[in-house]
Amino acid sequence: MMDSLPATPGKFKMDKPQYHHHHHHHPRQLTVRWHHYPLVSKVAVWSFLAIALLVAFFFLSPTTPNSSSTSGRRSLRNAAPWGGPAWEKCVRSSARVRRSGGISVLVTGAAGFVGTHVSTALKRRGDGVLGLDNFNDYYDPSLKRARQALLDRAGVFVVEGDVNDGPLLHKLFDVVPFTHVMHLAAQAGVRYAMTNPSSYVHSNVAGLVSVLEVAKSADPQPAVVWASSSSVYGLNSHVPFSEVDRTDRPASLYAATKKAGEEIAHVYNHIYGLAITGLRFFTVYGPWGRPDMAYFFFTRDILRSKPISIFEGPGHATVARDFTYIDDIVSGCLAALDNAGKSTGSGGKKRGSAPLRVYNLGNTSPVPVSHLVSILEQLLKVKAVRNVVKMPRNGDVQFTHANISLAQRELGYHPTTGLNTGLKKFVRWYLGYYPTSSSKKGSRGGSSSAL
Ligand SMILES: NC(=O)c1ccc[n+]([C@@H]2O[C@H](COP(=O)([O-])OP(=O)(O)OC[C@H]3O[C@@H](n4cnc5c(N)ncnc54)[C@H](O)[C@@H]3O)[C@@H](O)[C@H]2O)c1
Repeated sequence: MMDSLPATPGKFKMDKPQYHHHHHHHPRQLTVRWHHYPLVSKVAVWSFLAIALLVAFFFLSPTTPNSSSTSGRRSLRNAAPWGGPAWEKCVRSSARVRRSGGISVLVTGAAGFVGTHVSTALKRRGDGVLGLDNFNDYYDPSLKRARQALLDRAGVFVVEGDVNDGPLLHKLFDVVPFTHVMHLAAQAGVRYAMTNPSSYVHSNVAGLVSVLEVAKSADPQPAVVWASSSSVYGLNSHVPFSEVDRTDRPASLYAATKKAGEEIAHVYNHIYGLAITGLRFFTVYGPWGRPDMAYFFFTRDILRSKPISIFEGPGHATVARDFTYIDDIVSGCLAALDNAGKSTGSGGKKRGSAPLRVYNLGNTSPVPVSHLVSILEQLLKVKAVRNVVKMPRNGDVQFTHANISLAQRELGYHPTTGLNTGLKKFVRWYLGYYPTSSSKKGSRGGSSSAL
């Protein structure tokens, strides 16, 4: 199953847009020939150059790839090109605030697991929400499309695009003066970083910078809340993990890109006065979850009587995670948005100090992975075929445990769902979404691994 992973998830465009290819060639050839031709040829050459330049400008113009004529008749949901009156109408209506004192939020990674839940929760409150997602194939994109359909029914429009697409982000801010950005788009997964390291740099480092660039130049600037990760604690052994603990010893490239994100956030707060809140999520699980996470593919494999690998640390030490139920994470995200404070900059300049914060959002009760499997066995009424193996050194840490007192104090964050209850809800969703034995939908899950 590991082999079936796509080599380049996200089909992200690492290559430059096509129009950049035009630049160099013609003018260079022309200068080379320049001196050998009589006046008439010079005129011809100049005219050719002028026309070439016009054409080049036309293609370089940011409105071209999203001209309304190309997107006019297409289904908005699947149209890669953006722009046009119908598209703008969808964007505006999705982002419209429908309660007094409401906020309007650009949610990146909206078709993702956390993004979907946060978007629907905001919409339910009457806030304006616009989604952005590139629907990459790191895991089964049909699950992202199904979440998109759910969002659609809830009145949330998801624009298909990459967070690295600056012109698109600027356009979105032109159409809607977002008060907040909830930046959840990222390349997730710890082990996959060994297979496709550049996807982490692309989405988690370059993508974050791209979002902050647009946020800093928007007028008024939005407040930004974004997903960091508990993985920044890396080799930290002081438990429970507190925000004041060391985070300079990441154990994976994923963790390193999240840590880099926290430093980048400092820069944009310091120079431009952006209000930025980083949330360190601890192993989030629940309905509509990620197929690359252990609780998800354990469920799939147990149902198929496939052996599952349970890792143990050195000397048979148990591997444990502070599993946090999605609804608790959503409450934390909404509280972080509500307490984000104000960005102070305008016209790309800082006008005063703005808040810069980091919070743990966990559950404070680490559970050994073997216990997770026992709960799943009970819920699924199927005995797992357990295969206990030594944890490979590929980025996973042995243990996570959140100290959440800061989020409790400042955000009123109080997780309320225990692992039994949460997994019960997950399993109910799973069995409905992938009807068992019918095997029709049964092959939809992804693979890979992450806790
Ligand atoms: N789920 C967890 O346990 C957990 C734990 C810690 C941190 N996080 C972080 O929380 C956030 C949400 O995680 P999730 O579990 O919902 O993951 P997810 O993969 O389900 O969601 C991320 C979404 O972002 C989209 N995306 C990725 N790169 C993009 C790009 N360059 N441009 C546009 N869209 C892009 C993906 O298509 C996906 O739908 C991520 O930043 C993740 O790193 C999650």
